Amino acid sequence: MFYGKHYDHRNELVAGLLTGWPDDQTYSEAAAWAAFCFQSFPMRRLPFREKTQMNRPTILTGDRTTGPLHIGHYAGSLANRLRYQDSHEQFLLLADTQALTDNAHDPDKVRRSVVEVALDYLAVGIDPCRTTICLQSHLPALAELSMLYLNFVTVARLERNPTIKDEIRLRGFGRDIPAGFLCYPAAQAADITAFKATVVPVGEDQAPLIEQTNEIVRRINAISGCSALPEARAIIPKAGRLPGIDGKAKMSKSGGNAITLSASSEEIRNAVRAMFTDPNHLRVEDPGCIEGNVVFTYLDAFDQDQDGLAELKAQYQRGGLGDSKIKARLEAILQELIAPIRERRAQLSDDRGYILNVIKEGTERARERTESTRRDVVSALGLFRL
Ligand code: TRP
Repeated sequence: MFYGKHYDHRNELVAGLLTGWPDDQTYSEAAAWAAFCFQSFPMRRLPFREKTQMNRPTILTGDRTTGPLHIGHYAGSLANRLRYQDSHEQFLLLADTQALTDNAHDPDKVRRSVVEVALDYLAVGIDPCRTTICLQSHLPALAELSMLYLNFVTVARLERNPTIKDEIRLRGFGRDIPAGFLCYPAAQAADITAFKATVVPVGEDQAPLIEQTNEIVRRINAISGCSALPEARAIIPKAGRLPGIDGKAKMSKSGGNAITLSASSEEIRNAVRAMFTDPNHLRVEDPGCIEGNVVFTYLDAFDQDQDGLAELKAQYQRGGLGDSKIKARLEAILQELIAPIRERRAQLSDDRGYILNVIKEGTERARERTESTRRDVVSALGLFRL
């Protein structure tokens, strides 16, 4: 009975996962709005938060703090987070303890990257008056919930999680998988549920983690006989995951195939020049292939003139369009996207006190919320109370 219900529900949820963009706002509209907000809020003081935020659906999402964010993060979830600042109560988690699960050999990097990721958030236009930015390692309720949730998930299920499987392969762990790494889906479930989030904007690769979160939620709710925790829905952009500039599936700074949100104009130019296209498209007049052609994949994600792009694709496939033309178009778009982000980032990075203040205040706010959920879960499970 329990499992029957569970699977029905899961199918429904899986169907609901790939809902795509919630509205037709484009990247540059999101960026223009971000620029406007950036000018409109004072840099040093954090104004009062509106009480009205309380009734909005809650978003929790975040990033491992392993280095500065790149345009894959932008297309994957930052653009969505910008959109939801007003319609949702939004929390962004600087996931430093999760970053340790595959970076235990380099805790310095994890620590240094906290401010880098926070800077990226603010530079793209995340407004700390409307979105709470908080630090995972300073929210003890998350660790406690993680421990409790580990009892509601099996090792076999963790090993079957497609994201975990992929990441184990990618990181070359072989049989030496850190236990914290294998178990991080339970910790991510703790992150999401501690905020009672119902919406989680993430990149495509994270969908199985939300699914696993909902399984844990259903188990706890079924065992406790009350709906202590809500289920969450992932919001994933239609465009899917951006590959690296070399065409490899994963864009990462350490892989040297990323364009970061702080890239200089020269770095952007060089990255686009080096970008993987169709290796058989040797002469301009040859027909070219757009599938697996990174320039077109990026244009799909960032070009607002989709009609013009469709024409360009047709011409490329017919023959008569050189790689340099499509690269020039992409470069112009990326330069325009990144320049204001880079500028704001440079401005903000001079004011470390402000960044720390944003993180501190956000973490305080998040502490109240996560503590209250921790108490709810402990009482739903009926643990002994002194
Ligand atoms: N796993 C996410 C990443 O790899 C980071 C993360 C941690 C997260 N906790 C989360 C994402 C909760 C969404 C919800 O970047």
